[in-house]
Amino acid sequence: MDTAQFISKSKNNSVEKASFTWQTPSNIALVKYWGKSNPQIPKNASISFTLNNCHTITTIDFEKKETSEKVDFDLFFEGKQKDAFKPKIAEFFTRIQEYCPYIFDYKMTINSENSFPHSSGIASSASGLSAIAMCLMSLESALNPDLSAEKINKKASFLARLGSGSASRSIEGPMVVWGKHPEIEGSSDLFGVKFPYKVHSIFENYQDAILLVDKGEKQVSSTVGHNLMHNHPYAESRFAQANDNLSKISEILQNGDIKAFIGLVESEALTLHAMMMTSNPYFILMKPNTLEIINSIWEYRNENDSNICFTLDAGANVHVLYPENEKKAVNQFIEKELSKYCQKNQYIYDSVGFGASKK
Ligand code: DP6
Repeated sequence: MDTAQFISKSKNNSVEKASFTWQTPSNIALVKYWGKSNPQIPKNASISFTLNNCHTITTIDFEKKETSEKVDFDLFFEGKQKDAFKPKIAEFFTRIQEYCPYIFDYKMTINSENSFPHSSGIASSASGLSAIAMCLMSLESALNPDLSAEKINKKASFLARLGSGSASRSIEGPMVVWGKHPEIEGSSDLFGVKFPYKVHSIFENYQDAILLVDKGEKQVSSTVGHNLMHNHPYAESRFAQANDNLSKISEILQNGDIKAFIGLVESEALTLHAMMMTSNPYFILMKPNTLEIINSIWEYRNENDSNICFTLDAGANVHVLYPENEKKAVNQFIEKELSKYCQKNQYIYDSVGFGASKK
C-alpha cells in the first residue's frame, strides 16, 4: 500500500513557535466498521454521517525544543491536566512519527474540550483524534506551504485513522466512506473520502437525536471489541455483508429509497450487537431502555407512517435518525415518549455536518 506519499517533506525549519485550533466533529456510522488488522486497516468498508453539534475543540501549542530524541507533550482536557488520556495519545504519536517526523522537534501542549457531556457514552475518540490530526497538519503546512487543501485533508484522515479508525471519517462531511470498496471511487483503507456521488435531497440535513441511555464507561473498549472479530465464527460473512450493504446504501443514498435506508441502517446496528453477543467472550451492550426505545420507535413508525429509524454504537445509547421534514413531529415524540428512557432525561439534538473547521 502506498503509504510513502504520507511522509512529510517539510521544507523550512524556521517555525519556532506556533499555535493552531481546530473543531472537529463526531460521526455516526450507517454501515459499521467492526474488525481490523494492523496497522488500523479495516476488514470492511464503512460509511458515516458526519455530525454537527457533537464536536471536540483542540488547540496545540508547538514550541521548538533543543533536542529531538523523544516526543514530548502535555495534555489538558477541559482545562485540567489529564494524564489518564496520555497513553492513547502517546501511542498515536508513535504510530505517526514516521509520517510526521517534525513532532520530535517541538514541545506540544494539547488543550482539548468536547461539546458533549463528559462520559456521556458518546465516543470522543473520533472527534478527539481528528482534531489533533488537523492541528498537526496546520503545523505541517506551515513547514511546507506547498501542501494543497486536498492533500491536507487526505493526510489528516490518514493520521486520524492511525489514532482511531472511525476518526478517519471525521475530517469531512456530510458523508464519508472509509475502506476500499469497488463501487466507491477513490475509496481507500488508508483514509476516508467524501461520498463521491450526488445524494438525494431527502438525506440533506438529516437529523440525529442521541438518546443517552447509559452514560457509564464503555463496557468494551474498541480495541477489545475489534479483536473479538479475530476467530469469530461469523467474521467472514459479516465482512462480506458489510461490503454488500455499502453497495446497497450507495444506491439508496442516490435514489432516495428511504424505506430501504431504514431497513439497512437498523439491520447494521443490530448486526453489530449480534457480533458482540456471539463472540467469545460475549457481551450484551444494550440496556433494557435501549430496547424500550427501539420498540417505541417501531410503534411510532407504524402508527404515523414515519421514516424515523435508529442506529447504535458499541454501547447502550440510541441514535434516532430522521429526515428534516419530520423534525418537529419527531422531536415532540422524543420529548414526550423517549426522553423518559434516558439517564437524567438527557439527549442531544444533532444533524449532519460538514467536517473540520479552523478556529
Ligand atoms: C462501533 O474507531 O472506536 O463505532 O480504531 O480501535 O479506535 P479503533 O475503533 P473505533 O471503532 C468504532 C466502532 C463503531 C462503528 C463505527 O464507527 O464504524
